[in-house]
Amino acid sequence: MDHLFNSFGFVLEAILGMNFYSGKVGKADDALLRFPSGCYRRIVCSNVMAGELRIDTMVKLNNGVEMPLFGLGTYQASRKGTEEAVLYALEIGYRLIDTAQMYGNEREVGNAVRKSGIPREEIFVTTKLDNSNHGYERALTSLDTSLELMGLSYVDLFLIHWPVEDLRNESWRALEKLLEEGTCHAIGVSNYMIGHLRGLFENSSTVPAVNQVEFSPFLYQKDLLEFCRSNSVQLEGYSPLTKGENLGDPGLRAIASKYSKTSPQILLRWALQKEIVTIPKSTNVERLRENADIFDFEISHEDMAALDSFNIDLRTSWDPSTAP
Ligand SMILES: NC(=O)c1ccc[n+]([C@@H]2O[C@H](COP(=O)([O-])OP(=O)(O)OC[C@H]3O[C@@H](n4cnc5c(N)ncnc54)[C@H](OP(=O)(O)O)[C@@H]3O)[C@@H](O)[C@H]2O)c1
Repeated sequence: MDHLFNSFGFVLEAILGMNFYSGKVGKADDALLRFPSGCYRRIVCSNVMAGELRIDTMVKLNNGVEMPLFGLGTYQASRKGTEEAVLYALEIGYRLIDTAQMYGNEREVGNAVRKSGIPREEIFVTTKLDNSNHGYERALTSLDTSLELMGLSYVDLFLIHWPVEDLRNESWRALEKLLEEGTCHAIGVSNYMIGHLRGLFENSSTVPAVNQVEFSPFLYQKDLLEFCRSNSVQLEGYSPLTKGENLGDPGLRAIASKYSKTSPQILLRWALQKEIVTIPKSTNVERLRENADIFDFEISHEDMAALDSFNIDLRTSWDPSTAP
């Protein structure tokens, strides 16, 4: 209903040529609608840029940069596998590619981006600061190295990969500097829990554009999602397929068969319907296609709620809640 109300404001504005909408204020979800009478009404609006979800649906980050909601992960992809997978993914419509200094495949990601023939500005590339590159100077030079490896002049998003104790605030200052210089268009964090984010807010006025954390119905971190939303931080979910570990869950399979879809497709669609950026990894052509074939159906409200109840705190990598 709020979404409808929002569209209504824009339609009225278009018809009457009046300035009903005063832009977003405060939280990303909130906006003030101004009426000619001078009165305001606070509305909730979505950061998603288009009504219906599509492979190229974008979310608007807190600094105005647009990021695709759906993309490709490349962790544990071999070098050769990475280049081929990224090239194929770009060919079939993926526009967000997630890599990291740690993955050792930035060169191959860059090669594929350049070889794809797609204009650079239409592809969103993320990389992440390695734990060994924390500290102001090291963080600054590490992005130069990443860019050199990739053969790119900027990345769209540069994330702190892990909240490294004692050094993370210093590193954040370096990311602020890089943002100012333009070698990355947005900066954010990864594996930050609520406490880490609070600590960052106390030390900097730059709110991270993104927080990339493990997220799936089996690890439904609702409090973290709400905290991020209320602070204009876009949540990006990694290991959305539980690294393949829980695809055979009977409840998940039952929902999948109801929609004539596969378990991975349900997990990915669930994330997108929650406006969580999702980056499934695959180097297999069939699975790259399968994972992208999620834009022709919608999970019902009831089934979304059922999926929400699947949480078993399943972590398939590391547990950042133990990081001081
Ligand atoms: N910030 C962080 O700390 C962090 C941590 C982990 C991951 N990430 C990012 O998030 C991305 C995704 O997470 P992830 O790689 O850990 O796990 P994931 O995407 O949940 O799962 C990937 C695994 O599932 C398999 N797979 C993919 N599609 C499938 C399908 N349709 N059916 C069955 N199996 C399928 C893949 O194998 P095939 O390749 O053989 O298809 C791979 O083994 C990573 O690649 C990385 O970019 C970030």
